[in-house]
Amino acid sequence: MHEKTPPQLRGHLVTLRPFQKLTEFDFYWSLVSHPETRRYLGFAPHTILEELHFLDARTAAANAMVMTVNNCADGEPKPVGTISLDNIDIVNGRAELSRIIIVPECRGKGYARDACATLCQYAFSASLKLRLIYACVLDPNQAGRGQLESVGFNCRATLPEWDRVGSLYVDEHVLILRRDDFDASRLFNPQKQKNRTA
Ligand SMILES: CC(C)(COP(=O)(O)OP(=O)(O)OC[C@H]1O[C@@H](n2cnc3c(N)ncnc32)[C@H](O)[C@@H]1OP(=O)(O)O)[C@@H](O)C(=O)NCCC(=O)NCCS
Repeated sequence: MHEKTPPQLRGHLVTLRPFQKLTEFDFYWSLVSHPETRRYLGFAPHTILEELHFLDARTAAANAMVMTVNNCADGEPKPVGTISLDNIDIVNGRAELSRIIIVPECRGKGYARDACATLCQYAFSASLKLRLIYACVLDPNQAGRGQLESVGFNCRATLPEWDRVGSLYVDEHVLILRRDDFDASRLFNPQKQKNRTA
């Protein structure tokens, strides 16, 4: 876990806290093993044991932050998803935003956008001082791409036939958000509540 991982990051709708393997792994596994989600994760471990090793490596890494997304609307934090910052590269001032997953029953409420915006704000702040964040999304994943674009990410490259989804090879898009283009104040409208299902 990155030495500068904060104990908590507060967004408008959600709070991000460092992933706790002992108490949160079952929740995390239910997110990543969901068939509709797994097909869009690209490379992903296939068994619980592989996922545990994969997570251990990432949570121990000095250049990664794995966070649980909590909804605190009723006082008690309730986990609703996960989000990570990987490959944090202080020298080059960049990191990868990855594994943004919200539980299916909580989608369409703005949680992913708020979690992304909150983590990006932290990454661009004096704490990490990054200058850009990138994210990769597979072509058929309209919701994944849409939520990144809603935070201000722009597609800057496309890797043709990069990953397999089912029996097809699909393109992967690389989206980038630069610190200078990030405008947290325009991202959130508290009146807006939708119920779109992903
Ligand atoms: C992608 C995902 C994280 C979005 O979570 P969410 O909480 O439902 O997203 P939000 O409610 O914050 O939506 C933010 C924006 O994303 C876009 N979006 C969300 N769901 C969408 C959908 N089904 N189709 C198209 N665009 C969508 C919209 O632009 C939306 O803004 P709007 O409400 O103003 O129109 C969620 O669908 C998910 O967990 N999918 C499976 C995992 C995944 O594919 N993760 C990304 C790759 S790692």
